Amino acid sequence: MSKVKVIYTAEELQQFRKKLSENSQTLGFVPTMGALHNGHISLIQKSIQENDYTLISIFVNPKQFNNSVDLKEYPRTLSADLTLLDGFQNCVVFAPEEAELYPKNDEFVPMELGSIARVLEGAFRPGHFEGVVHVVHNLFHLVRANQAYFGQKDFQQLAIIRLLTKHYGFETRIIACPTVRESNGLAMSSRNMRLSEKERQDALIIIETLRLVESCKNKESLPDTLDSANRFFRSGNLSLEYLAVVDPETLCAISEWQENQICCIAAHCGSVRLIDNLLF
Ligand code: PAJ
Repeated sequence: MSKVKVIYTAEELQQFRKKLSENSQTLGFVPTMGALHNGHISLIQKSIQENDYTLISIFVNPKQFNNSVDLKEYPRTLSADLTLLDGFQNCVVFAPEEAELYPKNDEFVPMELGSIARVLEGAFRPGHFEGVVHVVHNLFHLVRANQAYFGQKDFQQLAIIRLLTKHYGFETRIIACPTVRESNGLAMSSRNMRLSEKERQDALIIIETLRLVESCKNKESLPDTLDSANRFFRSGNLSLEYLAVVDPETLCAISEWQENQICCIAAHCGSVRLIDNLLF
């Protein structure tokens, strides 16, 4: 049995929140879909350092899956997740059922996300960001955290979270955290659990391609770099959805090197869809 406290209902969560406010204690929030790995843990550790209490939500949000197979196959490992959190101080888990987050009297009003949600992930996963915005809005509304922690691995999601925080007037500060990788460079992801050993090796082409693009900065033109990177990627075993170099603010594709840019990749490795990026 795990020792970490688990809250299952919105009502209990609100009581917990009220107690913290009465004691002037700060709350850090780490929203997740579970199947916790060291990427999630790095966010949780940062929150523990910076707040009196940390709330970790674990909820596989059906609204953000545009692919029913992906939703069905998404790993659900709540008891292992709770065991992993055992040693952490001042942590509470929120593991709601769907009806707790999407009640009948749901007051959510969708926002217009604009072009930032139509490129990259938005172009390939219609409705995904609308689902992310809905769940994060409802979570933020319940949790009213002082700070919330998000990974740069999902760079576009992070940009959209900043927009929604402003749009809905949440007082939560958004903290961006760097991508945690395996020692071989593979970005950690809950979906990696579904990769075979061979697929894990094959997936390294993602980080190798990102590093190739970075190494060409200001040495070769950006269009030539993208040609070589595409050729290199296609020499591996993954099937590419997109490989793009974009402006980190607008996420629009650029045609010349800038001081800062982000290279983003999405690809299928067997039946598993992986994303990664490198900012340079
Ligand atoms: P999930 O994929 O579980 O990720 C939860 C948080 O962990 C996100 O902020 C994500 O960017 C971060 N994260 C994932 N892999 C990481 C890595 N290798 N290094 C650093 N951070 C990493 O993102 C979601 O869940 C959902 O969309 C959610 C925001 C919870 C809404 O349902």
